[in-house]
Amino acid sequence: MSDESELDVELEARLEQQDVFEPPESFLEQANVTDESIYEEFEENWPGAWERAAQLLDWEQRWDRVLDDSDEPFYEWFVDGKLNAAQNCVDRHLEDRGDQPAIEWIGELGETRTYTYDELHRKVNEFAAGLRAQGIEEDDVVAMYMPMVPELPIAMLACARIGAPHAVVFAGFSADALAERMNASNSRHLVTVDGYYRRGDALDHLSKARDGLELVDEEATTIVVDRLGDDAESALADEELDYDTLIDEHAGATVEPVTRDAEDMLFLMYTSGTTGKPKGVKHTTGGYLSYAAWTSHAVLDIEPDDTYWCSADIGWITGHSYIVYGPLALGTTTVMYEGTPDYPEKDRLWEIVDEYDVTQLYTAPTAIRAFMKWGEEYPDRHDLSSLRLLGTVGEPINPRAWKWYYKHIGNESCPIVDTWWQTETGGMMITTLPGISHMKPGSAGPPLPGVSADVVDTAGDPVEAGDAGHLIVNKPWPGMLRTLYRNDERFIGEYWDEYSIPDRDRWVYFPEDGAKIDGDGYITVLGRVDDVLNVSGHRLGTMEIESAIVGVEGVAEAAVVGGDHEMKGEAVYGYVITEEGQDETDAFREEIVAAVEDAIGPIARPEQVIFTPELPKTRSGKIMRRLLEDIANEDELGNTSTLRNPNVVHDIQSKVQGD
Ligand code: WT7
Repeated sequence: MSDESELDVELEARLEQQDVFEPPESFLEQANVTDESIYEEFEENWPGAWERAAQLLDWEQRWDRVLDDSDEPFYEWFVDGKLNAAQNCVDRHLEDRGDQPAIEWIGELGETRTYTYDELHRKVNEFAAGLRAQGIEEDDVVAMYMPMVPELPIAMLACARIGAPHAVVFAGFSADALAERMNASNSRHLVTVDGYYRRGDALDHLSKARDGLELVDEEATTIVVDRLGDDAESALADEELDYDTLIDEHAGATVEPVTRDAEDMLFLMYTSGTTGKPKGVKHTTGGYLSYAAWTSHAVLDIEPDDTYWCSADIGWITGHSYIVYGPLALGTTTVMYEGTPDYPEKDRLWEIVDEYDVTQLYTAPTAIRAFMKWGEEYPDRHDLSSLRLLGTVGEPINPRAWKWYYKHIGNESCPIVDTWWQTETGGMMITTLPGISHMKPGSAGPPLPGVSADVVDTAGDPVEAGDAGHLIVNKPWPGMLRTLYRNDERFIGEYWDEYSIPDRDRWVYFPEDGAKIDGDGYITVLGRVDDVLNVSGHRLGTMEIESAIVGVEGVAEAAVVGGDHEMKGEAVYGYVITEEGQDETDAFREEIVAAVEDAIGPIARPEQVIFTPELPKTRSGKIMRRLLEDIANEDELGNTSTLRNPNVVHDIQSKVQGD
């Protein structure tokens, strides 16, 4: 055994045992936030200390009050402040760094595009003029159904410039899902693309968008970005506008940024909940943008001369806050990659880090688990020494994956921030501050300064250190959702009811996550406690999947649960009762899987469809999902004594094992 591998074994053993890591000295020396009195400062001067976040932005008119909490839970932040998000993310950087790259885009085929702040400014203005020419006015919702092309952030910022909220729909969602979101948001405008590349193949996207538009209640204007060039199969229809033509028609145009109130809607983002209908989460201009900028500064440690990379998709909230709004508000260079991490080779990400001298990498545990499985030989091929900070988001990270990331990507010299947050929170809530706190692999850390979170039992009382309970947030924060679009009632019902116990004077926010808290206040998030699944970091509602399945002719009843999955975190398991006379064939299984893909998209594809004569139900008729999860995981079964039909679980068990 060579000395080197002996050292490696030793290191491995040390890492295995170690459960506390101090931030590296080299990082501390330059970090944006290093003074731990910041926690106290926020506590003593709350909510006033939040001005710190707002001060990272340019305001046309300063706010009168930091927080108006007179109408709980309809909080307002930076009351009467006025600003424009595009002005903050683009215009204000022109003087100092107009020539600096704002967006470095890398296409899957290897082509690259750089947009300096000057160029981004020009494109955003031209497209904003183009949108106006289509009759789009302030407060009109514009849907975007786009993959990772630079025209997506350009379109988002153009909307922000004219005060038209955007509603971005993940490109992997189906035509039905697009239509549902456009109808729910009363959106009569769509920006989309002809297609995009996956593993070298040109994928048609436009026909999916067209199928979706067929189901939209009102006539919609459609603007199509030409991504595929000659690889696109069909020409645009008469009523479809070509993005480049529109830009050319408005070449050199400038559009004055519209003055928006701090509380005016910046965008809507649809996400899954317990019921079949996605929730339209409303985020605002002042509070959200301040929060995205502040967390980018304090947690991601972003400086203007960084080259920062978040590998998420802009179709999810992570991309909104930490590819587009946060990084650009701070005037840095943000990297956008169109493709998958293993094409053309499994070192694609490391090649990009090496080539662009990426300084921060923010990714998801599901990706880290894949890197781990592929092996360290791929990162080892490249010089990753430009990296100074690593981040993860989207699901719990197990300590083994954390340590692999720390060692093989960060070379033990980058702090890792494990950031817990949600679509609804707008930005990070629970995470260590990389320039202050030590790290405990697997635990996200304490709540951010000014964020008040706790873990409580079902009565709403704090649990003992080490025990599991429900995560709650006790105080409002600037990045919080303001409501669910045109549905205040559901907003209150979904998030604020649970612990609004009459003798408590405050409502609390209930994120629907289970967690445990250590004696030192570090919080380990355990996962959802509602019927929401987390598949590869993608949030999916079991009810949405179930309603797709029961829509298939021949299906009588269905229950969907998440089973443990080594790579995906969770995988979709569908238990299906067929109607009398329906054969339980593989072809029928395929039909069910196809129906889920049509209703939601390939991300919701069931891992297994299990035909069963019955579902385990309580005497009151409630499906006991926990037991179905146990069966999927081949775990020992939990308590079956409350079942109306205790024998059914064994029947299903043998089916699953036999399948
Ligand atoms: C759910 C929110 C936040 C942007 C991406 C997902 C889970 C998120 C963590 C983390 C453990 C996490 C939670 C949360 N989650 N981050 N660091 N550790 N779990 O946003 O689609 O709204 O999903 O993701 O269960 O509730 P989302």
